[in-house]
Amino acid sequence: MPVNARQIVLARRPKGPPHLDDFALRDAALDAPRADEVLVRNLWLSLDPYMRLSMSDQGGLHGTVPLGAPLPGGALGEVIASASADLPVGSLVLSMAHGWRDHYLAPALQLQPLSPAAWPIQRSLGLYGLTGITAWGGIHGVLKPQPGETLFVGAAAGAVGSVAVQLAKRAGARVIACAGSDEKCAWITCTLGADHAINYRRENLGARLDALAPDGLAAAFDNVGGEQLEILIDAMAPHGRIALCGAIALYDGANYRAGPRNLFAAIEKHVSLTGFNAGFYFGEAPRIIADLAAAEAEAEAEAEGALIHEETIVNGLEAMPQGFIDLLAGASRGKMLVRI
Ligand SMILES: NC(=O)c1ccc[n+]([C@@H]2O[C@H](COP(=O)([O-])OP(=O)(O)OC[C@H]3O[C@@H](n4cnc5c(N)ncnc54)[C@H](OP(=O)(O)O)[C@@H]3O)[C@@H](O)[C@H]2O)c1
Repeated sequence: MPVNARQIVLARRPKGPPHLDDFALRDAALDAPRADEVLVRNLWLSLDPYMRLSMSDQGGLHGTVPLGAPLPGGALGEVIASASADLPVGSLVLSMAHGWRDHYLAPALQLQPLSPAAWPIQRSLGLYGLTGITAWGGIHGVLKPQPGETLFVGAAAGAVGSVAVQLAKRAGARVIACAGSDEKCAWITCTLGADHAINYRRENLGARLDALAPDGLAAAFDNVGGEQLEILIDAMAPHGRIALCGAIALYDGANYRAGPRNLFAAIEKHVSLTGFNAGFYFGEAPRIIADLAAAEAEAEAEAEGALIHEETIVNGLEAMPQGFIDLLAGASRGKMLVRI
C-alpha cells in the first residue's frame, strides 16, 4: 500500500542564521518496497550543527543539498513493510541519510540494523551514536589526557561537549569548560563535574583562561573554531594539544573553512592541532560504545553517578526547523532530538 510521507525540504539557502522560510514541509507518495527494499517509519531524528553546512553552497564533506530536496540526517526508525529477508517488519534501523522525514524507502543494505539494547533507543543517535563516538574520539583518540593536566572543552553544555567534559574528568584531567549562559555554566560544574566554567558571552575568555591556567592549557577540545580557537592557541602551554572537532562559530558565514589568524603561535609553542572526524572511528564503534556503557555501569557501581546524557526533545516533524534554529542559537542542552 502506498504511504504518504512528509519531508522537510530546503526551500532557500540560509543567509546567516537559518530562518523558518528556508524550510518547507512537503508530501511525497511512497510505493510498496521492491526487491531488497524496506519501508521505514521514523521514530527519532537527529539535529546536528553539521547540517547547516550542506544547506550552504560551499560544498565540503557533506555536499550541498539541492533546493527543493529533502534534507539528509541521522534517523532511527522501524521497518513497516519489507521485501528483504535481512530486515523483516518490526526491525529497528539507523540511517545517516534519511532524517528530516517521517517515512522513507531504501535498500536494506544501506541501513544499519539496531539490536535491542539496555538503553532507550534514541541514545543510538546520541551517547551511543555520533555524539558519544565524537567525544570519545576527541578525548581518547586525540587528546589522551593525563591525570592532573588542564584541559579545555568548548560548547561544553552541548551534545558532544557535555560528554567530552565527563570523559576528561574520568581520565583525571582538571577541566575548564565554556558555554553561553550562566545556567549552562552552573550545570557544567555542578552536574557534569567540570572544575571551572566560563560564560563566553559575558566574560573575557582569554583573561579568564590566563587566570585559571597561568601555565597554559595542556589540551583543548575545540567545538567552536573562529575567534575561540585563536584564543585557545594563545592560551596553550608549550607542547599543548588541540583536538579540532568543529567550528560552529563559522557555519553561518561565507567561509566555514577559514583558519585561525595566529597559527604561527602554534609553531612558536610546539602546539599540535589535530583535526578529527568521527566517521574515522565508526569501524571501532562497537568497542567505543561498550567502553561508554562500561564507564556508565562502573560509575553506577561506585555511586559516582552515571555518565549524564541530557536530551533536549523537539516534538513532531513540523517543529524540526525551529528546533534546528534553536540548536545553532544555543537554546538546547545536551543532545537535541526530534520525536516523531
Ligand atoms: N568532528 C566530528 O566528527 C564531529 C561530529 C559531531 C559534531 N561535531 C562538531 O562538534 C560541535 C558540537 O556539536 P554538537 O552536535 O555537540 O552540538 P551542540 O554542542 O549540542 O550544539 C551547538 C552548541 O554550540 C554553541 N554555539 C553556537 N554558536 C556558537 C558560537 N558562535 N560560539 C560559541 N559557541 C556557540 C551553542 O551553545 P552555547 O550556549 O554554549 O553558545 C550550541 O548549543 C560542532 O562544531 C559540530 O559541528 C564534529
